[in-house]
Amino acid sequence: MVLKTSEKNRLREQYGPWAVVTGASSGIGLELAQQLASAGLHLVLNARQIERLAPVAEQLRDTYGIDVRIVATDVSESVGVQQLIDSTSDLSVGLLVQSAGFGTSGLFLQSSLSEEINMLRVNGEAVLALTHHYGQRFVAQHRGGIILLSSMVAFQGVPYAANYAATKAYVQSLAEALALELKPEGVDVLAAAPGPVRSGFEQRANMAMNMALTPEQVGVPILRALGRQTTVLPGWLTKVLVYALRTVPRWGKVRIMQQVMGGMTQHQRQLQPNV
Ligand SMILES: NC(=O)c1ccc[n+]([C@@H]2O[C@H](COP(=O)([O-])OP(=O)(O)OC[C@H]3O[C@@H](n4cnc5c(N)ncnc54)[C@H](OP(=O)(O)O)[C@@H]3O)[C@@H](O)[C@H]2O)c1
Repeated sequence: MVLKTSEKNRLREQYGPWAVVTGASSGIGLELAQQLASAGLHLVLNARQIERLAPVAEQLRDTYGIDVRIVATDVSESVGVQQLIDSTSDLSVGLLVQSAGFGTSGLFLQSSLSEEINMLRVNGEAVLALTHHYGQRFVAQHRGGIILLSSMVAFQGVPYAANYAATKAYVQSLAEALALELKPEGVDVLAAAPGPVRSGFEQRANMAMNMALTPEQVGVPILRALGRQTTVLPGWLTKVLVYALRTVPRWGKVRIMQQVMGGMTQHQRQLQPNV
C-alpha cells in the first residue's frame, strides 16, 4: 500500500520535519519508517542492533533523499531511553512512533521472570518515558503526533500470552486517555492495535501464526488514522477478528483468546487439562 500525495503532504506539514521511530529495523516500525520517508519526513531510527539499522538508513537516504540519524540503543534500559532523547535535542521533532516491542508466549509460571520484566520495560516503561518527554516537547510547540503500538490482545486477557497482553492493555489505555488530554494542546495520539502481523515478532515470541497480515497492509492505515481517530484496527484481518468478538462479553473473549493463543503456542507448551 502507498500513501496518496495529499496524505504525504498532510503528514509532512502536520508532523514534520523530523520523526523518531523506535523498532525501526523490522516489521511494522520498518514499514512506518519507509512510509514516512516516502512522505519526506527526516527520520531518527532506533533499535538495538546497528547492523540492522545501518542498511535501512542507507536505503532511505538513497531512495527518498531524506536525512536519517541512527540511535542504536536498548530502550529496556533507562540509559538507552535517555540516549535516544539526548540524540534528538537539536532536532525539530514532530512525530514519535513507538514500535519497539516484543511478546512472549506459553504458560505464565513457566516463563523466565527476567524476560517478562524486560518485556514490561520495553513495552511499558520505555513507552511511558518517551511519551512523557516528547509529549512535553510537542505541547510546547503546539503540534505533534504520537503513535503507540497496542494490539488486538489489549482488549481482554489472553491466556498463554498473559503478560504480553497486559503490557498492551497498558499501552491502549494510556493512548486512549492521552488522545483526549493532548488534543486541545495540538497533539494527536493514536493507538494502533493490529491483529497478527508477519514480522520478527513471531519468532521472538515463539508463536506460530496460521494467518497474518503483512507490515505493508498495516503501515498506511495507521498513518492515515493519525489525527483522525484515537484507535485504529489496521488491516482487514484485524477488523474481522475484533468485530467478530464485538458482542461477546469480556469473559467470553478471554475464553476464545485462550483457544486462539492455545493454537499458536501448542508446539511449545505442555498441554494442561481443561485447556
Ligand atoms: N507482529 C504482530 O503480530 C503484532 C501485532 C500487534 C502488535 N504488535 C506490536 O507491534 C510492535 C512492532 O512489532 P513487530 O511485529 O514489528 O516486531 P519485530 O519485527 O520483531 O520488530 C521489533 C522491533 O523492535 C526493536 N526492538 C526490540 N527490542 C528492543 C529494545 N529493547 N530496544 C530497542 N529496540 C528494540 C527490534 O530491533 P532489535 O531487535 O535490533 O532491537 C525491531 O526493530 C511491537 O510493539 C508489537 O508488540 C505486533
